[in-house]
Amino acid sequence: MKTLAFFNNKGGVGKTSLVYHLSWMFAEMGVNVVAIDLDPQSNLTSSFLEDEQLLELWDTERSVPTIRGLIQPLLDRLGDIGTPDPVEIDRRIGLVPGDLGLSLFEDRLAETWGRCFDDNTANASDAFRVTTAFYRVMERAARQRNADLVLIDVGPNLGAINRAALVSADHVVIPLAADLFSLQGLRNLGPTLRSWRAGWEDRKAHQARRLPNLGLAIPSGAMHPVGYVVMQPSVRENYPVAAYRRWIQRIPRVYSKEVLEQPESAEIPEPDPMALATLKNYRSLAPMAQEARKPMFALKAADGAIGGHAAAVHASYRAFWDLAERIADACELPLSARRLSRRRESLVSSPSHLVDGP
Ligand SMILES: Nc1ncnc2c1ncn2[C@@H]1O[C@H](COP(=O)(O)OP(=O)(O)O)[C@@H](O)[C@H]1O
Ligand SMILES: [Mg+2]
Repeated sequence: MKTLAFFNNKGGVGKTSLVYHLSWMFAEMGVNVVAIDLDPQSNLTSSFLEDEQLLELWDTERSVPTIRGLIQPLLDRLGDIGTPDPVEIDRRIGLVPGDLGLSLFEDRLAETWGRCFDDNTANASDAFRVTTAFYRVMERAARQRNADLVLIDVGPNLGAINRAALVSADHVVIPLAADLFSLQGLRNLGPTLRSWRAGWEDRKAHQARRLPNLGLAIPSGAMHPVGYVVMQPSVRENYPVAAYRRWIQRIPRVYSKEVLEQPESAEIPEPDPMALATLKNYRSLAPMAQEARKPMFALKAADGAIGGHAAAVHASYRAFWDLAERIADACELPLSARRLSRRRESLVSSPSHLVDGP
C-alpha cells in the first residue's frame, strides 16, 4: 500500500477535486484505491455521495462509520480505532467518509504529539496509538478493499489533524494556483513538511528504542515530495496572462529551495520535472460533473456535455490520465500494462470513449 496526500494550507487550489478525479482515473487504470476524507469540511465525501447517502451517513444510525466514528473510541479513551468499512463508490474505489466532528480530534492530536516521548510507557503508548490512528485506518481500509493506493484529502491548515494525516503519507503532491498567495504558501509548506518529517523520525526512533513491542503499524512518515500541480486561472476571471506567467515562472525555484531544500544555485531542468501538470480550469464542466456525481472526464452528452464541452471532456481525460501516470511513476505504483495499452488504443481510435465503469 502506498499513501499519497494532496497538501497545501491554502484552500481552493483544487486538492479535493484532484483526489476525486484521480480516484476515478486510477480506478480506470486498474488500480484499487481508497480515498480518505480527513478534512472536517468533508467536501470530498459530498463529491462522491448523493444527498440521501450523506443524510444517512451523518444524520441517522450509521452502518458505515465515518472517520470520526472510527476514532471515537480514542476520543472517549475507551479503546482503539474501529474497523473501517469503506463506502463502495465503484468496484475499485472505496471511500472512508469525512465528518465535521473530526475537528474534535484536533486537540487530542496536538496534545499527544509531545507525549510520544513520555517516560511513562502507558502514556507514550497511548500517544503513539492516537498519532498513528489515521494511518492504521488507512491500512485496514486498504486491506479490506485490496487497494494499492490510498489518496488523502485534507483541509487547508497546518494543524495537528493535518500533521497526523501527513505523518501517514509516503508521498505528497502540492496543488498550487499561480499567484502570490500560493508562492507565499509554498514558503511555509516546505519548512512545515520538513519539521513534521523530522519530528516523526525522532518519534519512530524513540519508539524502536523504548517501546519495541508496541504492536502498532507505524507509518513511514516519508512525505516524499512527488511534485506540484498548477491550477490555471479561469479565463472568465479576467486574470492577466502576463501576471499568470510571472507567478508560474517563479514556482520551480521556490519549490526547489523550500520543498526540495536545493541550494539557490541548483540547476532546474526545463521543463521542471516537479511540475506534474498544469490543469486547465474546465469552468462549467466542474458544476456539471458535481451535478452528475461523475468526474469531469466521464461526462456524456446526456449530462449536458455537448459541443465545446465534449471536446473539453476529452481534453480533461487526457490531462488526468497523464497526471495519474506521472504520479504512478513517482510513487512506483504498479500499473497493469495490458490494461493501459488497451485503454490507450481505445482513446486514440475513439476519442469519445470515456469511462463507463470497469
Ligand atoms: N480543473 C478544474 N476546473 C474547473 N474547476 C475546478 C477545477 N479544479 C477545481 N475546481 C473547482 O474549484 C473549486 C475549489 O476546488 P477544491 O478542489 O474544492 O479546492 P480545495 O480542496 O483545495 O479547497 C471547486 O469548486 C472545484 O469544483
Ligand atoms: Mg478541499
